[in-house]
Amino acid sequence: MNVRDEQVLRELNLYPLWVRRGMPVQEDVVPAPIVIETPEVLPEVKAEAPVAKAPSVADIHDVASTPEVASLDWTALKEKVRACDACKLRVSCTQTVFGVGDENADWLFVGEGPGAEEDAQGEPFVGQAGKLLDNMLFSIGLKRGENVYIANVVKCQPPADRKPEAAEIKTCLPYLKQQISLIKPKLIVALGKTAATALLGRDAPLGSLRGTPHDFHGIPLLVTYHPAYLLRSPGEKAKAWQDLKSAVSLME
Ligand code: URA
Repeated sequence: MNVRDEQVLRELNLYPLWVRRGMPVQEDVVPAPIVIETPEVLPEVKAEAPVAKAPSVADIHDVASTPEVASLDWTALKEKVRACDACKLRVSCTQTVFGVGDENADWLFVGEGPGAEEDAQGEPFVGQAGKLLDNMLFSIGLKRGENVYIANVVKCQPPADRKPEAAEIKTCLPYLKQQISLIKPKLIVALGKTAATALLGRDAPLGSLRGTPHDFHGIPLLVTYHPAYLLRSPGEKAKAWQDLKSAVSLME
């Protein structure tokens, strides 16, 4: 592909191309395509379990970091999360999944909660959605762990990958808030509706939250699609690419 084609595709929101594994990529001309690892057999996409109780914005947003959590440094916070059994999620998960990356990062990406792979490995976004997130980061010149921190709203895997309940989010949110106050990121990217709702306290369609920066206690916050959703709805990837470009512009 020549540079002109690339520009046209960008104008049409069709670039970067999402390339199947095995397809040649001309790295000299195509600087940073988002490469989706497409296995021979597509991964089974679990249907989202019905939400037992939709997170209530009023319930979860007003939770202040408890003084106990707000005073913790990284070591103490990690230990607190590791030992946490404040909600029923801890009963069924293997381990807590704290977060990963540069603790002084400018970029913070926030997902919903660990899935099965994350529960097994103790690190956020290491499954299929994580591979896509890594590729999304790569497409804007970022890399997990380098000026990037990745965390989730809840630190324990919900059973059968259901959505976290309001009470679970409310219990866990002080940990994320304390992570944010320790990292002091320049930008927060909320991946999907659960993260957006929890951080913004606005229960609105995700589409309406995209596109404009929001404010999280003085930190700009952008909302985009969750990578797992993009795996199920590849047609929305062009919009996610727009969001990533907005994020880069905001950072500049
Ligand atoms: N989905 C999330 O929201 N977080 C993860 O860590 C993995 C999948």
